[in-house]
Amino acid sequence: MSESRRSADDARAAFQSCKSSDPRDRVQFYSCWADNYEKDHTLMSYRAPNLAVSCLSDHFTGNPEKALVLDVACGSGWVARLMFEMGFRHFVGVDGSEGMLQKAEKTGLYQDLKLVLLGPQPLPVQSDVFDVVTIVGALDAGFVPISAVRELCRAAKPGGFVCMVRGNHRGAPAASYKKDLETELQRMEEEGLWSRVAIQEVDRYMEDPHLKIERDGKTEEEVVYISGNVYFYKKSVGP
Ligand SMILES: C[S@@+](CC[C@H](N)C(=O)[O-])C[C@H]1O[C@@H](n2cnc3c(N)ncnc32)[C@H](O)[C@@H]1O
Repeated sequence: MSESRRSADDARAAFQSCKSSDPRDRVQFYSCWADNYEKDHTLMSYRAPNLAVSCLSDHFTGNPEKALVLDVACGSGWVARLMFEMGFRHFVGVDGSEGMLQKAEKTGLYQDLKLVLLGPQPLPVQSDVFDVVTIVGALDAGFVPISAVRELCRAAKPGGFVCMVRGNHRGAPAASYKKDLETELQRMEEEGLWSRVAIQEVDRYMEDPHLKIERDGKTEEEVVYISGNVYFYKKSVGP
């Protein structure tokens, strides 16, 4: 199906066809999806990159033109494109999918793009370097493991910001991931690694991509959305 003729049902079918919980299969799946990724996510009213940018515009206190941004699980470069509109100019991207990185490369926004499967592999960047670290749409079961969150904090400069956006997908693995993630965020705060700037819950993160494909004939009000969260932290300056 050509990209221009895809429907919401095609998009939902694509989401539902990725069944493996192995991150290696998952990133392979994203490589096959890369050509239709943005179109399908737009059809499902995916708002995660906009939520990240909105949180940054509320809470980022530095000069965006000078800031160095690490975009983890950067995918096709959607987040960087929106941040560029906000004035950010310097981006490094990381993703486990070669196909998605090729899309990110085409944006021309990243000074460096790194292929890495987080979990099996560490985050391949130096410590204390980035003014902003983003991870959008990739903190979930079968995606980026919670153990990588400390790595995000490690990569940020003292006083730098970490912006994490995720959707509350259905099912026990997603619920358990969220609980464990929030425990880890809190633990890191208690250890003095960072402090919470904001945690937001949003009702409409995206349309629920895992509902049955019965969209025809439904009114807009009947479309079901999943909620999402934005977690925004500031890395501590001293020990
Ligand atoms: C839903 S997309 C989000 C992309 C982008 N941040 C956005 O919001 O459009 C999830 C991305 O996470 C990447 N990903 C999933 N698990 C990963 C892992 N363990 N290591 C690196 N990248 C991963 C996928 O390849 C995919 O590009």
